[in-house]
Amino acid sequence: MVSILDKRNRPLRDLRISVTDRCNFRCTYCMPAEIFGPDYPFLNKEELLSFEEIERLAKLFAKDLGVVKLRITGGEPLMRKDLPILIEKLAKIPGIEDIAMTTNGTLLPIYADKLKKAGLQRVTISLDSLDPERFKRMNGRQISIQKVFDGIEAAKKAGLAIKVNMVVQKGVNEQDILPMASYFKEAGLILRFIEFMDVGNTNKWNLEHVVTKKEIIELIHSEYPIKPEAPHYAGEVANRFFYEDGSGEIGIISSVSDAFCGSCNRARLSARGELFTCLFASSGFDLKQMIRATEDDQEITKLLKEVWSNRHDQYSAEREQQKANKSNHKKVEMSYIGG
Ligand code: GTP
Ligand code: 5AD
Ligand code: SF4
Ligand code: SF4
Repeated sequence: MVSILDKRNRPLRDLRISVTDRCNFRCTYCMPAEIFGPDYPFLNKEELLSFEEIERLAKLFAKDLGVVKLRITGGEPLMRKDLPILIEKLAKIPGIEDIAMTTNGTLLPIYADKLKKAGLQRVTISLDSLDPERFKRMNGRQISIQKVFDGIEAAKKAGLAIKVNMVVQKGVNEQDILPMASYFKEAGLILRFIEFMDVGNTNKWNLEHVVTKKEIIELIHSEYPIKPEAPHYAGEVANRFFYEDGSGEIGIISSVSDAFCGSCNRARLSARGELFTCLFASSGFDLKQMIRATEDDQEITKLLKEVWSNRHDQYSAEREQQKANKSNHKKVEMSYIGG
């Protein structure tokens, strides 16, 4: 197996591909409506990588850099026209073992079947509250929670594996932790709690709004006892826990209170074709220009290897230091890079 190590001895395993920077939601922690308004300069169609270009890059990442997992992200990936056609291309790439998509779920009733037939294996659906009013407020567009439930149903019917992501914010939706745990325990779906992160520059992040992994574990354990479970593979993002009564699994993603940069094996490709080596990077490497300029795949592979082997990012592990230095680090937006 190919394995190119970065400056901190981390291999590349997971390529996260953003296919659009647009979304039909305006989650307050990701695309606040007052910033992502009607005049926001979203990318034009001509600026996006074509499906053929994404496929070409994904093939090289799989063949020459050791990527085995692809995750399709956005914005909301289903806002990209004809997405199942891309999935079909990616699913045929030798060496790719796992293709997943992160979505808000609302368009799954239209696309779930087509995605599954195209070769998508699983979806991760974002849902931050079971309270209809709070859900409407948090998505910034007054969208009914029923639309997400319909999406979950459609994914189930289509035979896609499903996980649910909940971003937890103190003072906003921490009261939903237990009801969400209970609901998805019953529903038999893996729920993952994500610490609110300081991605981008627009979500008014503050450490005081973070509910830590420790707090989440204690709260859940007090009601539904849980025990830690080993990761599926080195570098898995979520810490896994099983309910002691055997009724299922939860995950906790603790980028803030317990950073996992030491094993970070992820690269991110933006919809415009830039390669980012960290979720908190300020800029990426422009691959689009290069792939449009050359037919020579080896030249591209050489650059990809160079970028990865020179990588030293570990933003989350250095967060405290950055704050102490009062560094005014400009970061790419979550909706642009896909989380
Ligand atoms: P599975 O393959 O199902 O385990 O999921 P995943 O690891 O691909 O995770 P997913 O895409 O559902 O991401 C969950 C959350 O973790 C999102 O909020 C991501 O932004 C965050 N996340 C994923 N990778 C990283 C990372 O490398 N660094 C940080 N800081 N956060 C990450
Ligand atoms: N902090 C933590 N998670 C976030 N997401 C979006 N913005 C943030 C943030 N600031 C989550 C989404 C989705 C995943 C891709 O990232 O809810 O589940
Ligand atoms: Fe859209 Fe997901 Fe961001 Fe919400 S978190 S605005 S659904 S991309
Ligand atoms: Fe990887 Fe950057 Fe996240 Fe650390 S902060 S885990 S280096 S993407």
